[in-house]
Amino acid sequence: LGGAGSIYALARGGFQLQIRGVSPCIERGITVTYRHRVYFTEGVFASSNPLLREVLQDGVSGRRAKVLVVVDDGVVRAQKGLLEEIEPWFRRHGDVLELVAPPLRVEGGERVKNAYFHVSEIQERIDRGHIDRHSYVIAVGGGALLDMVGLAAATAHRGVRHVRLPTTTLAQADSGVGVKNGINAFGKKNFIGTFAPPYAVINDFAFLRSLPDRDRRAGLSEAVKVACIRDAAFFGEIERRVDSLARFEEVAMQGVIRRSAELHVDHIASGGDPFEFGSARPLDFGHWSAHKLEPLSEFRIRHGEAVAMGMALDVLYSREVGLLDAGSAERILGLLERLGFELYANEFHYADSGQRRVVLAGLEEFREHLGGQLTVTLLRGIGRGVEVHEMDTGVIARAMDLLRERVRGGVGR
Ligand SMILES: NC(=O)c1ccc[n+]([C@@H]2O[C@H](COP(=O)([O-])OP(=O)(O)OC[C@H]3O[C@@H](n4cnc5c(N)ncnc54)[C@H](O)[C@@H]3O)[C@@H](O)[C@H]2O)c1
Ligand SMILES: [Zn+2]
Repeated sequence: LGGAGSIYALARGGFQLQIRGVSPCIERGITVTYRHRVYFTEGVFASSNPLLREVLQDGVSGRRAKVLVVVDDGVVRAQKGLLEEIEPWFRRHGDVLELVAPPLRVEGGERVKNAYFHVSEIQERIDRGHIDRHSYVIAVGGGALLDMVGLAAATAHRGVRHVRLPTTTLAQADSGVGVKNGINAFGKKNFIGTFAPPYAVINDFAFLRSLPDRDRRAGLSEAVKVACIRDAAFFGEIERRVDSLARFEEVAMQGVIRRSAELHVDHIASGGDPFEFGSARPLDFGHWSAHKLEPLSEFRIRHGEAVAMGMALDVLYSREVGLLDAGSAERILGLLERLGFELYANEFHYADSGQRRVVLAGLEEFREHLGGQLTVTLLRGIGRGVEVHEMDTGVIARAMDLLRERVRGGVGR
């Protein structure tokens, strides 16, 4: 070092070795293109339904593709006959597909994300089944199971093909069609995870028929969310169909799920930041407090329910700081209520030993999750999200009080 032709030079605050005529840094852009596909169907494992075969076959040339199937136990229990359908379906398509083991049943719901155990269980099955980067891991289940299996698939062999079959309203309308996966750790939602676009997503509406009302409803909050920040016409559509949606009528539900999925996919594909490198996360409108309400309630409050509450809080906040007119705020709160959502939970008012409301920690956790500057999406109209970089904790507290008064007539739950 320091021989003929080399000198140390101070550049950009650090020492870089300068060789005459040679750049001190090799810099190249790396572009990776993904194809993101979300299909809609009914009865994906029915003997006459060729969709899954076509999707999987598309990615293999001249050999049988290995497949591992992981199924949400809640779905298995609710959909009698599902397991009995899966193995014969693969046998029928045995010329191109090889099921490496009987479908693996794993518990569903948030608990599955609260420990690493299940991720290593799936990875062990991937290893044992010799699933390689041209094989498939198919996950059938709610958003929580898909998040967990997605993480296992994205990390085994640095990423095997992951096909998602979401089985809840929320997962079909939002989480299952996205590119994120993960599990919870250290009391924080989605602390461990990756960005990994799935190989394909298949939304099978027949799965929704066995959902309890609570889970049928929960995902509708994410449709309202994306309408609020992106699409006033869609918001109007949800308003027009609110009575049918409150009764979970299939035509209305399917239309809303489809449009919500499309808006989420459009954002990922065209929003300019699919892997969230920046500080903004517009699709997480209402989520900074929702992500706190979930663990504070020990996950008794479902994600979609917490999002309805978190949106209600941020709608009132937007109104209180003069961003959103009172009429629009009322339309949004009214719509959520007519869909059957509760807009307040006592967890909003939980305080720590210093009398600070615990939910407020969600703001800093939200910032830290992305890094950089705090960026929260609020509303300046229906269909018009706006990014702000600070929130006044006094106004947040007032908005929480207003929400409590609205819902409980000033009395806690
Ligand atoms: N990755 C993302 O971008 C993203 C986005 C939003 C939400 N999420 C995550 O999604 C999770 C919530 O998912 P969810 O709302 O789908 O709930 P869930 O996965 O927790 O499932 C709720 C319950 O329904 C059962 N179930 C699932 N499908 C069923 C069916 N068809 N019939 C009967 N029972 C069924 C499950 O076993 C579970 O007990 C949260 O962990 C949330 O953080 C992820
Ligand atoms: Zn969400």
